[in-house]
Amino acid sequence: TRRVLVSPSLLSSNFGRLAEEVRAVETAGADWIHVDVMDGRFVPNITIGPVVVEAIKKAATRPLDVHLMIVEPEKYIDAFVKAGADILTVHVEACTHLHRVIQQIRHAGAKPAVVLNPATPLSAVEEVLGDVDMVLLMSVNPGFGGQSFIESTVDKVRRLRAMLDARGLSTDIEVDGGINAETARRVVDAGATVLVAGSYVFGSKDCAAAIRSLRP
Ligand code: DX5
Ligand code: ZN
Repeated sequence: TRRVLVSPSLLSSNFGRLAEEVRAVETAGADWIHVDVMDGRFVPNITIGPVVVEAIKKAATRPLDVHLMIVEPEKYIDAFVKAGADILTVHVEACTHLHRVIQQIRHAGAKPAVVLNPATPLSAVEEVLGDVDMVLLMSVNPGFGGQSFIESTVDKVRRLRAMLDARGLSTDIEVDGGINAETARRVVDAGATVLVAGSYVFGSKDCAAAIRSLRP
């Protein structure tokens, strides 16, 4: 059986005490720290940029899993890697030259990953599966925490795992949006290996128990 990592999303944390929130989820068992970067253009919400990622990096000991929901991500890759992104994920819908962007991320020194919106077919990443460390499947439309899980994601995870298996690849599959103990179990059964959870972890009284409940 595959190892499963939990990457709590800081989007649902208290931004007034970000450093403490990072340390708290790490103590509670977080494997990675998921950082949601939004520009008000690719998604209808604005969050943080490289300056705040740098502050998160100072507080964190676990890898930073940075999810860019921005247009023209190629302009900001070096800045986010310098700020401390260990895994840098770009939306295929935002990249005209996806292959080049992936190489740019690797060259800058981070692990490249690509992400698909719920309506974007898996064929959009087929040609780059051998070039990325992870594929993220959105299980909500990006922009906000606390939305409900889109059911069709389970089958999408299953089909992506089959595509990877057929190529002999053990690439991570991450799922982001509406993850709780029940949806986690279903996407892990389908082949997911990294779970993002925002409101489920930060909204619970006992973060450690919430993180534990996501693991198989
Ligand atoms: C959505 C973000 C997610 C979000 C998940 O645009 O990419 O990372 O924080 O939040 P929950 O787990 O509450 O759906
Ligand atoms: Zn995210």
